[in-house]
Amino acid sequence: MCGIVAAVAQRDVAPLLIAGLKALEYRGYDSAGIAVLDHGDVHRVRAKGKVREMESLYLANPFPGGTGIAHTRWATHGVPNEANAHPHTAGNVALVHNGIIENYASLRAELQAGGHVFTSETDTEVMAALISERVESGMSLREAVTATVRGLEGAYAIAVVSSKEPGHVVGARHGAPLLVGVGIGEHFLGSDAQALIQVTNKIIYLEEHDVVEITRDHVQIYGRDGKPVERAVHESELSTDAVERGEYRHYMQKEIFEQPRAVADTLEARIGPNGVLPNIFGVGGDELLAKVKGLHIIACGTSYHAGLVAKYWIEEYARLPVNVEVASEYRYREAVVPEGTLFVAISQSGETADTLAAMRESRRRGYLGTLAICNVPESSVVREADLKLMTRAGPEIGVASTKAFTTQLAALGLLTLQLAHQRGLDGERHADLASQLQRMPSMIEKALELEPQIIELAEHLIHRQHALFLGRGVQYPVAMEGALKLKEISYIHAEAYAAGELKHGPLALVDEDMPVIAVAPNGPLLDKLKSNLQEVRARGGELLVFADGEASMDGNASRGAILRMDGGGEFIAPAVFTVPMQLLAYHVAVLRGTDVDQPRNLAKSVTVE
Ligand code: M6R
Repeated sequence: MCGIVAAVAQRDVAPLLIAGLKALEYRGYDSAGIAVLDHGDVHRVRAKGKVREMESLYLANPFPGGTGIAHTRWATHGVPNEANAHPHTAGNVALVHNGIIENYASLRAELQAGGHVFTSETDTEVMAALISERVESGMSLREAVTATVRGLEGAYAIAVVSSKEPGHVVGARHGAPLLVGVGIGEHFLGSDAQALIQVTNKIIYLEEHDVVEITRDHVQIYGRDGKPVERAVHESELSTDAVERGEYRHYMQKEIFEQPRAVADTLEARIGPNGVLPNIFGVGGDELLAKVKGLHIIACGTSYHAGLVAKYWIEEYARLPVNVEVASEYRYREAVVPEGTLFVAISQSGETADTLAAMRESRRRGYLGTLAICNVPESSVVREADLKLMTRAGPEIGVASTKAFTTQLAALGLLTLQLAHQRGLDGERHADLASQLQRMPSMIEKALELEPQIIELAEHLIHRQHALFLGRGVQYPVAMEGALKLKEISYIHAEAYAAGELKHGPLALVDEDMPVIAVAPNGPLLDKLKSNLQEVRARGGELLVFADGEASMDGNASRGAILRMDGGGEFIAPAVFTVPMQLLAYHVAVLRGTDVDQPRNLAKSVTVE
């Protein structure tokens, strides 16, 4: 998704801005640009495609200047091309923007009626025009930005410069994140800490409706009422090392192999021999969880799949009712909230616009409280939740979520255990679940050893147009996650079904050209699943079965293959069986030669609706 970097420094800022944009590349984008002020001139370079393409244009014709703004754009209004790329200029102003302005059409019409000529199809350009007009009429840049954002509907994080005020950058946020990087004799703005970590680890997270003005020597933030406010400075724990690819070919591969460590970190000091340790969800967390009578879990994409696994777990072991819903649906419908319901938001980034909006909406719906399960401690979702349980996956750069998912399952495993224990789960069963959870890192490690066999399986899929994924019970969301991974990075159309649903429609698709991938761990539903697989086999479908141990598969894969592994026990099997799904998608994508870490059309952090 779009990224912002801005700087005011004594040194030339163009190289810093470009380095910041490179650190944001993982978010996904389709064009890039920078604008730098130099003695009253605005130098600008923009290009469709990667940052390096824009950088070559800059290097061919470099420009000096200590005040600048930069952007990677993920197209929403208007195709990806140079004209629509940010920064946008109007009169004395250059501006970059993340988010969507919903009332831009009426603003644009008014400006056009007044004679303004637009050069792009974007919603962003109207802001540049409005701010420029106001500066021309005598307002300072900060006053002009403040007045302009008050008339906007929608979501924005912006950084603005004016040739009339060299040495100043003004930023504002509402519905999209914006941070200040505090340096010595230089200051920065960025849409996430990753963009700034090369220049400073001192970060101020702006609040909703804040406006900020940075110069070389000062940072001044103004709150919703326009009055100066103080915001805390945080030391970011990010390091540039954490985002190195090391010996791996892609970030996704690195992140798949980091899972044993990431899951172990997520469990560390949170679970002991007697179960979950006190108050791991925050002060007062255990008391609040003891009052819970049901849960609504809200998330998007991969995080939604983690929520679906948790539904099976919590309903089985804690006997509490759980609803799981994608945030984009939940936020616009009048969900019934029974008394004592806990709202749980799951998000890797903590900035997903739909999840954040759903969480804000939940505030007026009478929940017992809110719990965030998230990977980014300073994210909006975490800051706005009553209780929080951080996943400790470290930065996830590949657009396809991998370690974020398994660490979410580890965190949700802790939540399940705590809820179940509080509701009197039998001691022996509780001890078994706790010990399975503690084994999760080593079982994932073992599953990673399957990579050579999975590379061979990947060959079966590379020339296919479609694939079906099947699972039953708690493995159905794992099949959904497997299908999502395959489609997003290999561009093979993949769908997941609860295996029992096959005969109600999708079986019509099965023939010798349709590979069917089945997740088949041991458990009470294995025999049912095997019958479903017979239905596929009888129609000549090619089966790739991931099976637990030596469980008989009755020759189920006479066309295709059976890959045997150890799920580590019924409770943690969803996390362990996810690993071969990830590896399969990864290797199919590598063999097909797609852009694995930045698949087309997708963004890492979806900060627009
Ligand atoms: O940051 P979040 O967990 O809120 O992101 C939600 C989805 O956009 C995300 O899980 C997406 O589906 C994955 N990149 C898919 O691999």
